[in-house]
Amino acid sequence: MTARADLYPTGPEIERLRLVAAGAEPADLIIRGGSVLSPLTNEFLERDVVIAGRHIAAVTPVGHFTSAGEIIDASGRFVTPTFIDSHLHIEYTMLSPGQLARVSVPRGTTTVLTDPNGSANFGEDAMDYMLTTAAPLHIFQQVSPTTPANRELERGGIQIDEQVVLDRLTSDDTVTLGESNPFELGPVAAERYSHAIRHGKRITGHTAGQSGESLWSYLAAGVGDDHNAVTIDEVLERVRLGAMVTIMASSLTDNTPSIFSDLERIAPAYSGLAFCADDKHVVDLLAQGHIDHHVRQAIRFGVPPVWAYRMATWHPAVHYRLDQAIGIIAPSRLADLQIIDDLAEVRPSSVYVAGELVARDGVALFADTDPTPEWSNNSFLVPDGFAAERFTVATEGPTALVRAAEMYNGYFKRAFTAEVPVADGNAVSDPANDTLKIAVVDRHYGDGLLGIGFVRGFGLTRGAIATFTCMNMNISVIGTSDAEMAHAVRELRARGGGFVAVQEGEVLGAVALPLGGMVSNADWSETASALEQAHAAAASMGCTIESPFIVLSFVGLAGVPDLGLTERGLIDSATQTFIDVVVREDSQ
Ligand SMILES: [Fe+2]
Repeated sequence: MTARADLYPTGPEIERLRLVAAGAEPADLIIRGGSVLSPLTNEFLERDVVIAGRHIAAVTPVGHFTSAGEIIDASGRFVTPTFIDSHLHIEYTMLSPGQLARVSVPRGTTTVLTDPNGSANFGEDAMDYMLTTAAPLHIFQQVSPTTPANRELERGGIQIDEQVVLDRLTSDDTVTLGESNPFELGPVAAERYSHAIRHGKRITGHTAGQSGESLWSYLAAGVGDDHNAVTIDEVLERVRLGAMVTIMASSLTDNTPSIFSDLERIAPAYSGLAFCADDKHVVDLLAQGHIDHHVRQAIRFGVPPVWAYRMATWHPAVHYRLDQAIGIIAPSRLADLQIIDDLAEVRPSSVYVAGELVARDGVALFADTDPTPEWSNNSFLVPDGFAAERFTVATEGPTALVRAAEMYNGYFKRAFTAEVPVADGNAVSDPANDTLKIAVVDRHYGDGLLGIGFVRGFGLTRGAIATFTCMNMNISVIGTSDAEMAHAVRELRARGGGFVAVQEGEVLGAVALPLGGMVSNADWSETASALEQAHAAAASMGCTIESPFIVLSFVGLAGVPDLGLTERGLIDSATQTFIDVVVREDSQ
C-alpha cells in the first residue's frame, strides 16, 4: 500500500530541494536536454530535470546547473512522467504485486490503482498483500465495496463487514471506492458512497450496458469514473456528466479502437480520458504492454502525442488527487519519470522511480523480494472424488430448452434459449452446436455447492477447461460432458486452483497459481509460459476464444447483463433474481 503522505517531501527534503533549486547545493541527478512533457501547456520543452533525493527540485533551461552527482544526456529524446493504471485487479494478471512490478515498471507503468476484490474473499490480510510490494510500484487502493457483491445471490469466500469498508475508505492509501454493483440501492450503499465522497475519495463506476435513467441514477450516487464505455456516444455522455472515462484495454476487450475511431467527435472529451487495464493477464501484458499499449494505440489512431501522454499521466493524477506527488515533471513532485526515444513507440530506455533508476531497455533492475503469504494455505476446499453426477440438470428427454449466454465482444453475455440433448434425465452439453454446460462450483466451504447454466461462444469440441471465477474466486468450468467437467474440477483441486485444460483423462495444460489459486509469485516468465501452453491446449480442443480462461472467469459475473451464474444458481442480471436453467422440458 502506498500512502500519499509517504510520497511527499519531508521538511528536511523540502529544505534540500529549495537549496538545490536555488543553486546553493548540487543536485544528485540532472537529466539533461530532453524534450520534457509539460501537460498544462500541451508542450514538449527542452529542459533539464534537476533531482535531489526522491524528488524533482527544478526544471530548468538546458545547462543552467552544471554540478550534480550524475548527469544523464537525454538530448534528442523525450522525458515524460511514468504511467498510471487507473483501475486494475492485480489478481487477473495472475502475478503477485512484486512480479507485476517486474513486468510493468520496465514498460513505464509505475502506479496502479487497484481493487482487490478477488483477494477480499480471503480476508483483509489477502487484500493487504495484493496492495503491498517492496518493488518500485506505487499501489493505491480502490476499496472493494461489498464482499460478496450481493449476499442474496452469491456466497463468495467471506463476508467483509461494512465497517471494514468504511474504515478502509478513510485510509491514506485509498483513492476510490472500488467498482460497485450499479443495481445496489438502499441506505447502506448510499452511506458508503457518501462516506467516500466526504473523505475526499472518488467512486469507481462499472456502467456496462447502462444508459438513460439507470446511468443517471448510478452517477447520482457520486460515481466519478467508468471503464465500461465502449462507444464514442457512451464516452461523451459520461464525460459530459462529470465522470472520467478510464479507457479499458484488457484481456477481454480493447476499447481504444472504438473510442479513438473518430477523433473529431472524441477530441472535446480528451481532458476527461484516462487509461486502465482492469483485467489483463501476464501473457497479454508481455505481448501488448500495460498502459504503454493504450498510449501507442491512441497515437496510432491519430491522437496528438501530448494528449495521449496526458491521458496516461496528468489526467488520472489530478482526478484521483495524486497530482501533488505524481503525473507531472515539476518541482517537489516525485522523480517518477522515463526517457523515451520515440513518442509513438513508447518503449522507455530508462525508468526512474523516486529518483532511482529501476529499469533499463525493458529490463527491471530490481528483484522481487516480497515474502510468500500464509493466508492462502488450505484455502481450496472441494469434496473428495468430485463426480460428474453433481452436474446433472434433471429434466425429461429427449431434448430440453435451456437458458444460455452467448459470449461476444469479451465478457458481455446475450441471453438466448437453446435446445440441448437429454441423456438419462440429464440435460447435457451439445458441442456440435457449441452449447456447453457451464458450472460455478464453490471452493471456499468444502460442500461442493454449485450453480449450472449453458454458454455458447467458446467453441470447445472436446474436453473441459476450468479456472477461478472473478470476484468470488470459486471455480468456473465448461466442458463437452459432465465427466470431463468433473475431471477438470478434480485436477484443479489437486493443484489448489489455477487453470486446467483436460481431455479424455489427460491434462493437456495447467497453470499453478498457488496463492489463493489465483496468482503466482514464481518468476513471471514461468507463469506466462504455463499460461501460453494452457491457451494452446484449449485451442487444440477446439476453443476459439483467444484468452479462454479469463473470459471463462467472467462468464458468471452477476452484475453484467444478461445472465449471471454463481455457486447458488443462474441469475437474471437485470432483475438480480434467480431463474431456472430449464425453460421447457420436452417429453415427446
Ligand atoms: Fe474492474
